[in-house]
Amino acid sequence: MRLSVIGCGYLGAVHAAAMASIGHEVVGIDINQRKIDALSKGDAPFFEPGLQEILTSGIASGKLRFTTDMSAAKGAKVHFIAVGTPQRRDGYAADLTSVHAAVDGLLPHLSDGDIVAGKSTVPVGTAADLATREELGRGESVAFLREMDEINMRRRNRAVQLVVDALGGSVFQKKVTVLGAAFKPHSDDIRDSPALDVAVRLHGLGASMTVTDPAAIENARRVHPQLTYVEDRDGALRDADAVIVVTEWDEYRRQLAPEYAASLTSGRVIVDGRNCLDAAAWRAAGWHYAGMGRP
Ligand SMILES: NC(=O)c1ccc[n+]([C@@H]2O[C@H](COP(=O)([O-])OP(=O)(O)OC[C@H]3O[C@@H](n4cnc5c(N)ncnc54)[C@H](O)[C@@H]3O)[C@@H](O)[C@H]2O)c1
Repeated sequence: MRLSVIGCGYLGAVHAAAMASIGHEVVGIDINQRKIDALSKGDAPFFEPGLQEILTSGIASGKLRFTTDMSAAKGAKVHFIAVGTPQRRDGYAADLTSVHAAVDGLLPHLSDGDIVAGKSTVPVGTAADLATREELGRGESVAFLREMDEINMRRRNRAVQLVVDALGGSVFQKKVTVLGAAFKPHSDDIRDSPALDVAVRLHGLGASMTVTDPAAIENARRVHPQLTYVEDRDGALRDADAVIVVTEWDEYRRQLAPEYAASLTSGRVIVDGRNCLDAAAWRAAGWHYAGMGRP
């Protein structure tokens, strides 16, 4: 089937390449010329396991191409909207500007029976609103999103507070190591990452912060150059007074034995910001373990 994917960022580029890899004929469309140039050459512009391979093979097979020209969507039967919906600066709602622009750009190229599928994260009701032309006016869904946001923010505050409490009430001049910078494992995406927010807050309280991550250090350094970055996990742990796990990469969740970690750090404080560690095992190895909402 012929498909178009509008927006070729983390979500769209992977989706386009994956659809081509299972045999569909796919055109990926984006307004960012640099991104399109890189993708057209088969260069994955970010880290995602397996993307490089399916991108290269999709382009070589002729099933996958990328362009900035929206008219290339014409003839596709399904159009996936995968543009960004960042948090609005003035509040809690998502900024739907790009979704509106993408749909407006796509409309002249649609044929009867085409399906437009939303993959971007949008508030409940956006599809119905778009169909009638993405006003919102959905008080309940906005209130729900605000509540979710507040819960997420409270988790970050709590993680910071757990580190402060475990270090005796002050982190001033204490060495704290943050395991993880990406907003989720297997990604170098640090946008809205709780990990970096927590690290920056502790830095603001006077802690000496070291951050490590298997994939996201370059992106993190660009946005928060005030933090210290160490690529090697063990190097990052060395001499730390406290450790906080904020992204559940296997390197931290499964492959870091508490006894081994204790041989590297100077303190024995571990804060599990993702509740992804075996609390009993860490405590048995002599660590002060604190999880989120866990005894
Ligand atoms: N990254 C993820 O893992 C992930 C997972 C689930 C859902 N999502 C959601 O998917 C959506 C996209 O996220 P992302 O991380 O890929 O964002 P991104 O910023 O990496 O990519 C968005 C892309 O859309 C392009 N774009 C903006 N306006 C456009 C337009 N009018 N026409 C064509 N292209 C346009 C941008 O140039 C950019 O390349 C968001 O709503 C996000 O919440 C992302």
